[in-house]
Amino acid sequence: MSAAADRPVREAADPPAPDRPAPDRPAADPLAPDRLAGRAGPTPFLVLDLDRVAAAYRGFTAALPGVDVHYAMKCNPDVRVLRRLHGLGGRFEIASVAELRALAEVGVDPADLLYSAPVKPAAHVAEAWRAGVWRFAFDGTEELATIAAHAPGAAVYVRLATAPGGNTVPSEGKFGVPPDRAARLLRAARDAGLRAYGLTFHVGSQMLEPAAWGAALARAGTVLRELAAAGVRLELLDLGGGFPARYSTDVPPLAAYADAIAAGLDRLPYVPATLAVEPGRALVAEAGTMVATVIGTAERHGRRWVHLDVGAVNGFLEALETGNRLRYPVADSRGSARREPVQLTGPTCDSQDTIMFDVPLSAGLAAGDRVFLGSAGAYTTSYAGAFNGFPAPRTHVVG
Ligand SMILES: Cc1ncc(COP(=O)(O)O)c(C=O)c1O
Repeated sequence: MSAAADRPVREAADPPAPDRPAPDRPAADPLAPDRLAGRAGPTPFLVLDLDRVAAAYRGFTAALPGVDVHYAMKCNPDVRVLRRLHGLGGRFEIASVAELRALAEVGVDPADLLYSAPVKPAAHVAEAWRAGVWRFAFDGTEELATIAAHAPGAAVYVRLATAPGGNTVPSEGKFGVPPDRAARLLRAARDAGLRAYGLTFHVGSQMLEPAAWGAALARAGTVLRELAAAGVRLELLDLGGGFPARYSTDVPPLAAYADAIAAGLDRLPYVPATLAVEPGRALVAEAGTMVATVIGTAERHGRRWVHLDVGAVNGFLEALETGNRLRYPVADSRGSARREPVQLTGPTCDSQDTIMFDVPLSAGLAAGDRVFLGSAGAYTTSYAGAFNGFPAPRTHVVG
């Protein structure tokens, strides 16, 4: 490790984007280097600032009064995050019984959960129902049959498809059905002895266009109207996740999303009694800084490669999912004013393991130097594998 290895710098090197946090975002340095200075020990590790998680949660409750905020814990299920959010009155969205069990440890009442994965293992439905979960998402007749068999009498909500585009992390149309099918499925739910309870959608993760909620709500309105004509009134409208975090460039303020949602709700024939959102990355991404060590460097075809002990496959899988379009703010411990563009890649032999291309970092970065990647609190540790034997990052919390 070089002499400078434990001396984080303030400079955010990639790119020098205007650091003008929107008013509803905590005005903290995205790399929080002062918080990292004392952290020794083996890298890679994620430093997660729970105060920033709490501030982001409060931002949601303030921007969306009357809307239940269910944290989509899949993006960072660290128990300390769960505890902090639970302590603030936060609710949760789950995708498996493992998540349900983790929340039970924290003291969360299963009756407050939303189980929004549209297709679930039958055994998970059964265990969740026994534990007290009573609300389940679905988007097809097979899943409806599973829920009817293993959670008889449960309340079900249909996942609506949304229009593609505007989101940095592609969703590839995996989930959801169009409005006419959604209405048919909810009528079928009623016929199967289930409670035709509501609608949900997910506009796509890191959605940069608030208007996406307006379009999705218009689709929801079509379903509400059609079902009202059949005498069915829904109780839940779940506006999903997709709210963005700031990476290297500004994103629209949460207030713009709240305005789009309010306008969309105004156009509905009626507003269901329970409104919910399921933010994931918007609550935790900016609270996390990944600390990595350079394991080696190389010059290849005129480009400089910096290999870290964390890469796409043991922490930054979203680099792969987005075609390297997520640009994490980066700094390094060398702190040199002279910069050179580097390819920031991982330790494994996987040729797709690169986090970012052409990142301006200190010239002469060498083995032992540290690199700090900001906005790394979401979909990093929870996505990480151990390919080639390189371990997933551990998490240290502060705040
Ligand atoms: C059902 C559901 N809700 C919410 C989320 C959270 O999404 P985001 O992190 O984009 O807010 C996800 C993410 O995969 C999801 O599958």
